[in-house]
Amino acid sequence: MAVSLVPKISSFLYWVAFLTLVLNVLSSVAVKHDNFKTCAQSGFCKRNRAFADAVSASSPPYLYQISQGTATFTNGQFRATVSKAIADGATVQLPLNITFLQSGLARVELDEERRRTGDIELRHGSKARKERYNESPAWALVGGLDVDASAKLAEESRNGVTIIDFGEGHRSTAVIRHTPFSIDFQRNGDTQVKFNNRGFLNVEHWRQKIEKEDVPEGGAEKPSEKPGAEDESTWWEESFGGNTDTKPKGPESIALDISFPGYENVFGIPEHTGPLSLRQTRGVNQDDFTDPYRLYNSDVFEYELNSPMTLYGAIPFMQAHRKDSSVGILWLNAAETWIDITKKKRSGPKLDTDTHWISESGVMDVFVFLGPNPHDLTKALADLTGNTQLPQQFSVGYHQCRWNYMSDEEVKEVDAKFDKHGIPYDVIWLDLEYTDDRKYFTWDMDKFQNPMAMHAQLDVTHRKVVTLIDPHIKNTANYPVVDELKKRDLTIKNKDGNTYEGWCWPGSSHWIDCFNPIARAWWETLFKPDFWKYSTYNTFIWNDMNEPSVFNGPETTMPKDNLHHGNWEHRDVHNINGMTFVNATYHALLNRQPRKPHRPFILTRSFYAGSQRLGAMWTGDNLAEWGHLEASLPMILSLNIAGFPNSGADVGGFFGTPDSELLTRWMQAGAFYPFFRAHAHIDTRRREPYVAGPPYTGIMTQAIRLRYQLLPAWYTAFHEASMDNSPILRPQYYVHPGDEAGFGMDDQFYVGSTGLLVKPVTRAGATSVDVYFADDEVYYDYFEYTMYSKKGFKTVDAPLNKIPIFARGGHIIPRKDRPRRSTHLMQYDPITLMVVLDKAGNAEGSLYLDDGETFDYESGAQVFARFIFSKDSSSLTSQDMATTGSMTKSYRQEMSKVRVEKVIVVGAPSRWANKKHVTAEQGSKTIEADMQFHPASGNKAAWAIVRDPGVSIAKDWKINFL
Ligand code: NOJ
Repeated sequence: MAVSLVPKISSFLYWVAFLTLVLNVLSSVAVKHDNFKTCAQSGFCKRNRAFADAVSASSPPYLYQISQGTATFTNGQFRATVSKAIADGATVQLPLNITFLQSGLARVELDEERRRTGDIELRHGSKARKERYNESPAWALVGGLDVDASAKLAEESRNGVTIIDFGEGHRSTAVIRHTPFSIDFQRNGDTQVKFNNRGFLNVEHWRQKIEKEDVPEGGAEKPSEKPGAEDESTWWEESFGGNTDTKPKGPESIALDISFPGYENVFGIPEHTGPLSLRQTRGVNQDDFTDPYRLYNSDVFEYELNSPMTLYGAIPFMQAHRKDSSVGILWLNAAETWIDITKKKRSGPKLDTDTHWISESGVMDVFVFLGPNPHDLTKALADLTGNTQLPQQFSVGYHQCRWNYMSDEEVKEVDAKFDKHGIPYDVIWLDLEYTDDRKYFTWDMDKFQNPMAMHAQLDVTHRKVVTLIDPHIKNTANYPVVDELKKRDLTIKNKDGNTYEGWCWPGSSHWIDCFNPIARAWWETLFKPDFWKYSTYNTFIWNDMNEPSVFNGPETTMPKDNLHHGNWEHRDVHNINGMTFVNATYHALLNRQPRKPHRPFILTRSFYAGSQRLGAMWTGDNLAEWGHLEASLPMILSLNIAGFPNSGADVGGFFGTPDSELLTRWMQAGAFYPFFRAHAHIDTRRREPYVAGPPYTGIMTQAIRLRYQLLPAWYTAFHEASMDNSPILRPQYYVHPGDEAGFGMDDQFYVGSTGLLVKPVTRAGATSVDVYFADDEVYYDYFEYTMYSKKGFKTVDAPLNKIPIFARGGHIIPRKDRPRRSTHLMQYDPITLMVVLDKAGNAEGSLYLDDGETFDYESGAQVFARFIFSKDSSSLTSQDMATTGSMTKSYRQEMSKVRVEKVIVVGAPSRWANKKHVTAEQGSKTIEADMQFHPASGNKAAWAIVRDPGVSIAKDWKINFL
């Protein structure tokens, strides 16, 4: 059947948009810098940088101080009014709240009295809200706000300096200086974080526009020529790329300098390309960026590497790390934000890292984390923004995507080919073209003539379909979804309060406003299989283009003066917008089977702090180039430490066609992304892993099978992330916080707490890699048990068929060693435990299992075993750690058939050389099981294998090696 790649639409405008897009795709492979602002082109960023420079250059009088007599401290809360001095002796009142939290965090909030009380006038008859946006917490936070009532005023407090001790053992201290206003945060008496130490605090207060006669309508004002005067040229209106922002609220940015004394490395603030350890941004050294890191969720076409440019998502969390100490901040603001980073030698042997945070609007709301371990920060951030969603187990498998599988027959063919080649996979994806003319919740019935037969074939192996549903709704006749959207008035509005119209994949479109609870409720109704024909409960969702991407909008997104539910301007909520859409979809999937809810699976491109609660993300439209493979690692590590562990990059690269070597290496790296999906642009050649042929197909098959072999370890890591948002991929500094040599490393990582250290090959033609071992513990090659037991770099062989993976001594890794076609088919497969002894002869690990799809685990339907191998007792024990509940008994019953099939002890002691048996005990049962010992040879460790010890995974057991 001939398949048309383009939608059936006659509108001339549509074709213009479509052809422009195609030309874009085919033309140069480089980001269009002109489409996106630099700091100098963004009025508020430029103003704040200039302000900072002026303050640094001439130390002018500080403008901000706590007004006398306004400060109070009760029940863990310091309140005061900060006054900002403006012209002619006048002041602006800024209510300040510093709250000390039970989690040991401090929260600093600064608002503006006049905007808060609505005592301002908006221009152009705008209907926008007058207050500074203060609802980011309602979207991003889920808890962690209990106040530490034990925080106390320190005796050393004196006139003009309030000192408050807080946190565990009162070891943390906030030193609040009144004039000029600044705060130092200390731990055990050492200053860790400083606010406004450099005097860059800036709250652009509301002011009346003074009309100047010579400004033409729609034009920009000339900067004032008065020396030292503020640059007003972008206060009231700002144009970029032919779009004008009417700025009805005038200038309203907030900015603050935050310094980390003695901290040379800062990490986080995804999403950017570039190294995990963030670079300086003011162009001092050759390697420095010249622009600040930008957070303004955008559809950046062909994004470039090593850049502070914004990408699709934003998490305004930064972690500073020095030897044995981590501290951090969460800048809870949803507006466009820029962050300058500079490093300076002041006192002490180390550099200080100075940061400057600049947001366009909203209240200032900053959380301070005082660590001291990286994991303390993870935990405290998780208390605030939530944990990783415990995913559907299928989603931990391999995902096969491309833009597009063009028909149901093609889906079935790809599915069959995976089986023919013995390659496991769990999900096949349907991009845009499955829809009828890009109308979501419909099918192109010419191409997908029998979707139910397609679903039925996939059901046989319990595979799933993920389909694309975007937030732009086609503006066309005879499309009930758009009719209802408009009738119910659930759209995002333009500045005049009318339904906003812009361009995206379907041509003319409207956008659902998921800030509106009624829109969310209505969205749910669309996912019911009785409304969305040919969707099933095994159809899951991909939310793309939710920055939102608007092809004809400023910087490919929505005008900032658009209006959302509650009349908040888009400028105020932009970075949260994508998350609200996923939130609506999440609830839709959750509620589509009300009697037995299943865990939703949603992939999102746009995200914010908190999005980890709703699903997975991927790093968008990368390129099929080695550099993009390499860049994917720091990007995913950054997401992992900033709170969004369930992340991945398009395996193979989205744009362009990878050669077989690149695709193979990417598949090997991707097998270690938390979210493992291959994807490709519509113009690229087919590249399912079976296409390349020998030796590549075989090697890729091995990589994917390795992912499935380690599924129990991955799922356990996800479980851990669902309990405290622990990173699933962990950078060196996170696992070895005292090892300075590893702080900047971002090309190798650990998988959860498994002790597996992976160094993917990311260079063309490489046959070896330099791996860094952070300590003198013993590390074993995962496949051959070659030992490495000296701290430092080691060159190891990495021919094309080899993924450099090392198991650090001291861990027990659960596996399932039987190759299957999908994760579900492994459900009752027996477990292999790889016990990797440390130098002292001990090891520990854990295994989490549940049904992989429902919420029954909350009622105790789970296995959570802690394994301990003890040298002293020469035994391996399994202890139950599961949360119990009403379903515990029945689930244990069901899982009693899942047995331990093999125990492999790597680094087995030589005294076992003649040992042939071990005894295993479970309940009243004792079994003698065979053991084979393999002596050490050369630098390969001795190992032993116990077969069929006869114990089930569902109850405690013990194996004696005595
Ligand atoms: C943009 C996404 O980033 C890409 O992955 C997808 O294939 C296209 N949209 C088409 O839906």
